[in-house]
Amino acid sequence: MANEEREFDILVIGAGIGGYIAAIRAAQLGAHVGIIEKQYIGGTCLNVGCIPSKALLHVAQVYAGLKEVDKLGIHIEGQPSIDMGAAVAFKEKVVKQLTGGVAQLLKANKVAVFDGVAEALSPTRVKVTQKDGSVVELAAGKLILATGSETIMPPFPGIDGKNVIFSTEALEMTKVPESLVCIGGGVIAVELACMFHALGSNVTIVEMLPSLIANEDEEVCKALTRSLTKRGITVATGARVESISDADGMKRVTAMTESGPQTFDGEYVLVAVGRKAQTRGLETLVSAGLAMDRGKVVANERMETNLPGVYAIGDVVGRTWLAHVAETEGEVAAENAMGHDAKMDYTVVPRVIYTFPEIAAVGLTEQQARERGGAVRVGKFPWVANGKALATTETEGFTKVILGEYGEILGAAIFGPDATNLITEFSLAMRAELTSDEALVTIHPHPTYSEALREAILAAEGRALHIYQRPAAGARA
Ligand code: FAD
Ligand code: NAI
Repeated sequence: MANEEREFDILVIGAGIGGYIAAIRAAQLGAHVGIIEKQYIGGTCLNVGCIPSKALLHVAQVYAGLKEVDKLGIHIEGQPSIDMGAAVAFKEKVVKQLTGGVAQLLKANKVAVFDGVAEALSPTRVKVTQKDGSVVELAAGKLILATGSETIMPPFPGIDGKNVIFSTEALEMTKVPESLVCIGGGVIAVELACMFHALGSNVTIVEMLPSLIANEDEEVCKALTRSLTKRGITVATGARVESISDADGMKRVTAMTESGPQTFDGEYVLVAVGRKAQTRGLETLVSAGLAMDRGKVVANERMETNLPGVYAIGDVVGRTWLAHVAETEGEVAAENAMGHDAKMDYTVVPRVIYTFPEIAAVGLTEQQARERGGAVRVGKFPWVANGKALATTETEGFTKVILGEYGEILGAAIFGPDATNLITEFSLAMRAELTSDEALVTIHPHPTYSEALREAILAAEGRALHIYQRPAAGARA
């Protein structure tokens, strides 16, 4: 880092996935860029979020899969065992490789990295208290706020007790808990519930709403709950947690339900009730009038805040709390800051959940499409009718597509193998505004999971080929 270097075209506060992408894109466009990071390059996603969770989910899936290889004719002598210390070391190696790669990319793009806490003094000046205690003041033409988010600590009794953990600690456990109660049935809880259950824990999920992952398609939510229950995970919905205590050497979670208080015991409690924007260091801008909404920075579709020359992206804006949205917003902000004209389009944002099997969705859910009114046709294709899924024993779940009046794809949801990769086909079709006719003429290789996506569209048209369907009333020939 060049400490004497103080003047930049663009300064980015926060080197999470939104911030570092913004910095690289701005540098590609010729800007002299500085980025300030107080904790770790790569932010939440690369260090304690997306990447480490997927590394450990992979470990858990491979481990659980070993118990099922008998049916493939593979015999393993004795019982497989898990060394969580080694699994966590594997995860850390993955994180290090990726964050190290990002640091190299920043360097190659000549982005100056400041290792310290940033405090925005004005839209053009930032004070940095560096790790070594020294303070530097930086100047910039434009500022991009990318300070991300942090875990919500709900204020109920017992939240700071022993064996009460959050997602970051859950990804550092060097021992598999004998039992675990997850507070919240959102994305983090269902992913980590699958992980710990596959590693051998007894897992209970306690969610206050009537459904897990409540914003997703109802049919998918129900299928997930059935699937988790069948695997042996206890799911309690309509149960609002109010306290955590100690009882009989265990943690006890007490929740209020329709029929009164109910308790759930476990060796550990995982709290995952959402995240909130991280805005420390932005106080002066807020005093100067930076528009905020419920603790989040307000930015328009060009990622401009109301202060000229100040942009904001990612979780601190908090439209979706998704890494790929933070990245895209980072590109948009950088391009606009460099005089281009870029806009975010939030209509086609894929949502991915790494349960076993995976869930992925894009666009409207069936309920949202029906509430919107107009003609809606829904096609569903089960994985059990897909050859590749049978061959790989991944037959749980279905693919669902929602078509509008003219065959336009309004939304899609996949519960099944490799859903998180497959969803991109629907996203691309929606982005390109393809109708079902246009999507259907695309030849899909055989045997692949992708054939199920075409079959779901065929099903919406009443002419699926690998399940029997009476032509739906009004279906086109
Ligand atoms: P962050 O990644 O939070 O980065 C912000 C950075 O700013 C941090 O490094 C922070 O230290 C720094 N910073 C803040 N204030 C200052 C300051 N004053 N000075 C200097 N630096 C500062 N999303 C997905 O899309 N897919 C997933 O699979 C997924 N899995 C997840 C799993 C978990 C367990 C968690 C917690 C989240 C997951 N997410 C996932 C969400 C994803 O991590 C976030 O949406 C993403 O990290 C947001 O990126 P960001 O750059 O806006 O913020
Ligand atoms: P979330 O908002 O997805 O879920 C929190 C859940 O906790 C909600 O269902 C809520 O009803 C419930 N809840 C709140 N208070 C409660 C109480 N007192 N008792 C019982 N239930 C209660 O938040 P989560 O899971 O913490 O994740 C945060 C964000 O991180 C997500 O919004 C997501 O965008 C992101 N993320 C994304 C992933 C992905 O894309 N695969 C993976 C993990 C996180």
